[in-house]
Amino acid sequence: MVNREQFSGNITVIMAMAGSAIGLGNIWRFPYVMGEHGGAAFILIYLLSCAFIALPIFYAECIIGRRGGSDTFGSMASLAPGSRWPKVGLLTVISPLLILSYYSVVGGWSIHFLISSFSYFDVADGAEVTGHFGKFISSVESPLLSHSLFAALVAAVVLAGVKKGIEKFTKTTMPVLFVLIVAIVVFSLTLPGASKGVEYLVKPDFGKVGMKGVAAAMGQAFFSMSLGVGTVLTYASYMKKKSNLLVTGVGTAISDFLFAILAGFAVIPAVFAAGLSPESGPGIVFETLPYIFVKMGAGMPWLTVVLSAVFFLMVLFAALTSAISMLEVGVAYLVEEKHIRRKRSVFFLTFSVWLVGILCSLSFGPLSGVSLLGFSIFDFLDKLCSNFLLPLGGLLFTLFVGWRMPRAVVLDEFSNGGTRPFNVRVYPILRTLIRYVAPIGIVIIFFSSLLISE
Ligand code: TRP
Repeated sequence: MVNREQFSGNITVIMAMAGSAIGLGNIWRFPYVMGEHGGAAFILIYLLSCAFIALPIFYAECIIGRRGGSDTFGSMASLAPGSRWPKVGLLTVISPLLILSYYSVVGGWSIHFLISSFSYFDVADGAEVTGHFGKFISSVESPLLSHSLFAALVAAVVLAGVKKGIEKFTKTTMPVLFVLIVAIVVFSLTLPGASKGVEYLVKPDFGKVGMKGVAAAMGQAFFSMSLGVGTVLTYASYMKKKSNLLVTGVGTAISDFLFAILAGFAVIPAVFAAGLSPESGPGIVFETLPYIFVKMGAGMPWLTVVLSAVFFLMVLFAALTSAISMLEVGVAYLVEEKHIRRKRSVFFLTFSVWLVGILCSLSFGPLSGVSLLGFSIFDFLDKLCSNFLLPLGGLLFTLFVGWRMPRAVVLDEFSNGGTRPFNVRVYPILRTLIRYVAPIGIVIIFFSSLLISE
């Protein structure tokens, strides 16, 4: 039996879980998905998706992980011995590694833009930085170098272990992250012309939502809360028996939601202030923001440098704390099931992820002609994971907890052996959500995204 490490307490667990949840999904994806689907109207649907679908899955993963007390495979094997359920655990070892391989490429972009910030000392005109993004991602060496650096940083944190690596890193970076995003929001809101952006964010336009918006909201909730691939399960297996699951879930969901909203208020008003369109889609963070920073710092290049460096440092931190949670799923599996030492597991998995990441990175340049079912390698992996593997994993986790685990065991785990009366009281609601509402919701996302995808 491997001697398992544990997170110190409630607050540290929430920081680690929030560290996993808050990432590129909040800063880079949320603002433009929200923009495309009716601003404030989207937020409302997003909130409902978090409460009725995402949170129940989150709790399902927590219950399996803490009760099973092991990696995804081992936890399911100990809760349902002799069944085929542990195979689900195995599936969820593979999906976070696939996500990590392309996530690391985008994480690498944030390193590149962080370093490039220091070249803005000599940039006189915003036009000089537009177009840089396109040229950069389609080149070969620099994106590969950044991807390698990012992967190495992730490996270094995971190598140091649960307490000395993941816990220590998330505990130091998460508060910094919140301070940085608040500073950027304040700056963004004080820009001339920002009010139009605020109006765009707060004025609900229900006409733009539709079924597509609902599917987008549910998909976003899934990705943002890191669900369906065993990251929550694995982190929960490091929770102390006395930690409160209810508080952890609510704390993580609130931090994640708050951060997404703050990111919206950081990015969209600045985009309006610069006279650009919020519908510029995925490129918004990497293309639009450097342009805005150069414009804002006109005549004061140091301001551009500071703004850009602070912003991309924040993106980098957020991406790192998410990426380590993906790597840990596979590492926990190899250490506990295959008895491979942590160091070897980290090297082996990082190397594999790095190789696949190279293909993803090159798919913006020399490999752009390679198409898998009509998608580039990068888009194919993203679609495969976000639209298929995540919902599938989430569905299986809720079915396992809702229909396979005995009711009394689930209640016992959720209420810490009945010692938390409030948890006992809300349990019937949670049970209905886990058994019916979430699985049905997931099936809806799944089919509607099949119908919607281009
Ligand atoms: N939630 C993270 C983000 O918003 C990404 C992430 C981490 C993730 N672990 C995950 C996404 C597991 C899906 C599954 O950037």
